[in-house]
Amino acid sequence: MKFFADTAEIDEIAELNDLGMVDGVTTNPSLILKSGRDILEVTREIAGMVEGPVSAEVVALEADDMLAEGRKLAEIAPNIAVKVPLTWAGLKTCKALSAEGTMVNVTLCFSANQALLAAKAGATFISPFIGRLDDINIDGMELIADIRAIYDNYGFETQILAASIRSANHMKDAALIGADVATAPPSVIRKMADHILTDKGLEVFMKDWAKTGQKIL
Ligand code: G3P
Repeated sequence: MKFFADTAEIDEIAELNDLGMVDGVTTNPSLILKSGRDILEVTREIAGMVEGPVSAEVVALEADDMLAEGRKLAEIAPNIAVKVPLTWAGLKTCKALSAEGTMVNVTLCFSANQALLAAKAGATFISPFIGRLDDINIDGMELIADIRAIYDNYGFETQILAASIRSANHMKDAALIGADVATAPPSVIRKMADHILTDKGLEVFMKDWAKTGQKIL
């Protein structure tokens, strides 16, 4: 499973990128707001740091305007994936941009039928939002499993990009189901390294090591 960093914070991306933990980056208007940066500038900077796809989201609601925004975002760098919402206008824009050879990430997906439409429209990525479904007591991971089954039934090449990931368990479950990509906040990716028994084991080793009176360096 590929890991995308769901953030527009340069320092956080750089740290994970240096560890080889970043196969791409996703942003959205809320993450751009949080970063306090200009969308074009920060997207250019991220796209220059990371080899994989960097998603940048359009904000127009009508297809023609979305297409114009998408083309402008795509001009930033060859590894830009234009993010469009899963609306009819978004699907039209997806079809047009995909035909031009631009990667498209169709976002705000909350049903298997929406994912089916995105694949038909030639999306490179479909972004089902797990956490936001869990928030309203609908099993977000079940949606990932449904989309996996449907895409595999028909050989769709659209990659399932599990989004709105809130916990390390979400990462494990998405990987078990076979999501192609999971995008998560860097804090969640770091949490995947945590285990209480690792901490306890290390504590014992450190105590015993101190008793040996030895040094390695
Ligand atoms: O990639 C979409 C993601 O950023 C949404 O996450 O936590 O705002 O639902 P969240």
